[in-house]
Amino acid sequence: MPNENPKPTTTDGGIPVASDEHSLTVGRDGPIVLHDHYLIEQMANFNRERIPERQPHAKGSGAFGFFQVTADVSQYTKAVVFQPGAKTDTLMRFSTVAGERGSPDTWRDPRGFSIKFYTPEGNYDMVGNNTPVFFIRDPMKFQHFIRSQKRRADNGLRDHDMQWDFWTLSPESAHQVAWLMGDRGIPKNWRHMNGYSSHTYMWVNAAGERFWVKYHFKTDQGNDFLTQDEAERIAGADSDYHRRDLFNSIKNGDHPSWTLKVQIMPFEEAKTYRFNPFDLTKVWPHSDYPLHEVGKLTLHRNPTDFHTEIEQAAFEPNNMIQGIGASPDKMLLGRMFAYADAHRARMGVNYKQIPVNRPRCPVHSYSKDGALRVDNVTDPVYAPNSKGGPKADGERFPDSATWSADGEFVRAAYTLRKDDDDWGQAGTLVREVMDDAARDRLVSNVVGHLKQDVTEPVLKRAFEYWRNIDQTVGDRIAKGVSG
Ligand code: HEM
Repeated sequence: MPNENPKPTTTDGGIPVASDEHSLTVGRDGPIVLHDHYLIEQMANFNRERIPERQPHAKGSGAFGFFQVTADVSQYTKAVVFQPGAKTDTLMRFSTVAGERGSPDTWRDPRGFSIKFYTPEGNYDMVGNNTPVFFIRDPMKFQHFIRSQKRRADNGLRDHDMQWDFWTLSPESAHQVAWLMGDRGIPKNWRHMNGYSSHTYMWVNAAGERFWVKYHFKTDQGNDFLTQDEAERIAGADSDYHRRDLFNSIKNGDHPSWTLKVQIMPFEEAKTYRFNPFDLTKVWPHSDYPLHEVGKLTLHRNPTDFHTEIEQAAFEPNNMIQGIGASPDKMLLGRMFAYADAHRARMGVNYKQIPVNRPRCPVHSYSKDGALRVDNVTDPVYAPNSKGGPKADGERFPDSATWSADGEFVRAAYTLRKDDDDWGQAGTLVREVMDDAARDRLVSNVVGHLKQDVTEPVLKRAFEYWRNIDQTVGDRIAKGVSG
């Protein structure tokens, strides 16, 4: 609706300008003068509108909401966000992994599932995916994995041969690839998918007792998916299909929610469990570790400025509060460095002063200066000091989420246990979780994928890979591609 009484346009300096449409020229037909600083400000600002996109997970969107605790898990964690009755404001971002900022939402890919909890004890970030496992188990391989999913150096194209080359040379990827090629690889939208921490984390209770946990955010809308054909059609018609769905649902008062449930493993059991419970390529069977309800996450408010609230949102797995800690999962330990570093590179060292990233509690850090700092720094600027500066309180805020480790420095995979293998859980997923129709779609999806540009010797290895997961499914895939 036209505004009858619009505010006068100003420069960024607040000075009212004379025209939104005409630059300052020497006569009506003459040249533009250099001192039209408003024109220059408009051009300069435009040229600097883009910040680098996230390296992985560039395409996404999000919304604000809250997390409400509905059960009592205080015997397992003292984390303020999970105490009975607690209600915490949250920001969520959903994403695809390999596509660029404008890529179609319906490409087959895992979906990111990031949550920032603005707790009174600092920001807690849970940066998960819509799958409970991952393709690799060592952070050394992450960069290579992502490159294999993105674009070739020569022609700038994505390349299925490169993807299957990496996967078939990395058998630990089998479980996640089986997820990806099945129905969960293209959710109907972000509202109709689950989210998982994937990693094992540590919880610590008020008495200092430690537990291992995995998070499952179960969609209250029900799981639903798109077929490959539907997804391809939508990718052409509306590349922002999932972004639009989330925005419109919230706008129309249809607020999506997820029920958080956790699996809990007693601290000592991890030492003797039949496979390494910290291996990110494995799920914990629910028969051994059932789900415990914790609370409900609801999204109820859309962003009003996509750039400042979503594009500049900085999620980092290292943001953990008292009562929550890391685990010996090497991938998680690698991520504890990677994200804050990515944010510094993308947005500058003071990115935590951007309102969406700001903690909702006092900050008393010794960080100082740097590009675009807006918070004042006060003396003293060093610790220890005798001038009344902040002092770390290890009594109240101990590093209690710890475990012991010993051994020589090595570069090696986790020590193998009885049931540690790369194919078993992938086979169970294909045989026992999928029904006949889902298995048929899996075979068809893989055949279609392999038929696009995958050549020998990768193709042969891909058939072997699937036969290792399940002989029948592997045979069907080989026949589908070759026959
Ligand atoms: C985004 C690194 C594994 C979920 C990112 C970003 C980096 C990164 C650098 C871009 C951050 C940004 O610019 O904002 C890594 C490394 C990994 C790893 C080094 C392994 C060693 C994982 C795993 C998951 C995951 C296992 C899920 C369980 C995500 C999500 C985002 C993301 C959801 C998007 C965050 C957002 O919404 O802004 N990752 N990642 N990543 N990663 Fe990872």
